[in-house]
Amino acid sequence: MKKKDDISEENGKKRKSQVAKNSKRKAANASYRIVPAILKDVEGIANVLKESFPGDASYYKIRSWQNEAKKIIKCNKNWLSLIAISDNEVIGIIASRHLKTKPTPTVRIEWVAVSPSARGLGLGTALIEEIKKWVKDSFSGQTVRLTLRTRSENQDFYRKLGFRCYGSGWMKMRTD
Ligand SMILES: CC(C)(COP(=O)(O)OP(=O)(O)OC[C@H]1O[C@@H](n2cnc3c(N)ncnc32)[C@H](O)[C@@H]1OP(=O)(O)O)[C@@H](O)C(=O)NCCC(=O)NCCS
Repeated sequence: MKKKDDISEENGKKRKSQVAKNSKRKAANASYRIVPAILKDVEGIANVLKESFPGDASYYKIRSWQNEAKKIIKCNKNWLSLIAISDNEVIGIIASRHLKTKPTPTVRIEWVAVSPSARGLGLGTALIEEIKKWVKDSFSGQTVRLTLRTRSENQDFYRKLGFRCYGSGWMKMRTD
């Protein structure tokens, strides 16, 4: 059994590391902007997707990362794609689509990716939160289903943000 002193030392260490993590995230937060993706960002988006998803584009049933990047900036086709920019470089992307399901509309998150060098700083979380904010504003308070498909090793990331598993590989949450 652990002694009382050992437990309070462990808790102290945990608190310190949480404080350090928070201040790192705060500093990172100030260094990027999250904005809608437009045509000039295609190259940057394709790069982030390519370095974030292992294997060939064909594995994901898409023609090329460049082609996918072009597709996801087409907001006239029900896509909403946001990017995080730091020093004029795309360092993160979230791409989602509005599906007109009834009675509850669905916004399906198709891609979330953060450049390897920018991971662990809260950017993935910030991108999801930004989409949630957009959904809340755009659907004026109506409940919307947010869904996504992901590999099991990423599920904890989404669980922390309020998503729950349903079906094989699918996760969802409702905005209220
Ligand atoms: C998954 C991904 C988007 C996370 O982005 P990120 O900016 O590193 O995430 P955050 O810094 O916001 O992490 C938030 C929390 O989730 C945790 N987390 C991050 N990635 C995780 C993962 N793959 N599995 C479990 N937990 C994860 C972090 O440790 C952090 O936890 P904490 O708040 O307790 O410290 C990023 O790792 C990525 O681009 N991966 C490759 C592409 C991919 O797999 N995308 C998702 C598939 S749909």
